[in-house]
Amino acid sequence: MNSSIPVIAIDGPTASGKGTVAQRVADHLGYHYLDSGALYRLTAFSAMRGGVDLAHEAALAELASSLKIRFVNDQILLDGEDVANAIRAEEVGNSASKIAALPAVRRALFDLQVSFRTLPGLVADGRDMGTVIFPDASLKVFLTASVGARAQRRYKQLIDKGFSASMTDLLKDLTERDARDSNRAVAPLKPAEGAHLLDTSDMTVDQAVEQVLGWYAAGRGS
Ligand code: DC
Repeated sequence: MNSSIPVIAIDGPTASGKGTVAQRVADHLGYHYLDSGALYRLTAFSAMRGGVDLAHEAALAELASSLKIRFVNDQILLDGEDVANAIRAEEVGNSASKIAALPAVRRALFDLQVSFRTLPGLVADGRDMGTVIFPDASLKVFLTASVGARAQRRYKQLIDKGFSASMTDLLKDLTERDARDSNRAVAPLKPAEGAHLLDTSDMTVDQAVEQVLGWYAAGRGS
């Protein structure tokens, strides 16, 4: 069993900045990094491309368990094709949020997520890292930011990646996705028991990273 391998679980709503913070914490510690949202996005992307109905639970679960994915540096390879930018599109995020409510899809992605727990350690970000996938994580963080701050961050991210974006649409999308991710029956977005709450609305990335590393060091008694 790999339960002795340390995990830092960072959960939070969409566009909270948890991906950037998690990646930086992983780099600092020399740990592996799991972007679990990318797995839901890849499943949604594949379904949209292959014309699979986003309500067909069995077909989507089958698709999720047969994905050929590799993470190589900044690239996310799906059947050898780099789709790292393509899966960041808002419509892919919205579809990912819809299929993520289906229990069979979550089950299909379970083993793949757990397999990322390898030495020397893992930083995992998502919605249910601390509640469902790694309930024994050494450190659990629930990272949030106001809807306004998150819409601005997502706007910048989309423009930087060459997508068009509208603040009004983003605010509406984020609010809808928050509601869907938080109110679903399986693995809803909520702070894990014992999670440290981190509101980054008025924080820089550096400050948030330092706070997480500080909590981790304190928990290990150093
Ligand atoms: O973190 P993200 O925006 O890339 O995630 C896309 C969608 O995937 C999100 O709206 C909900 C879903 N998701 C999930 O249900 N559980 C996770 N651990 C990660 C993402």
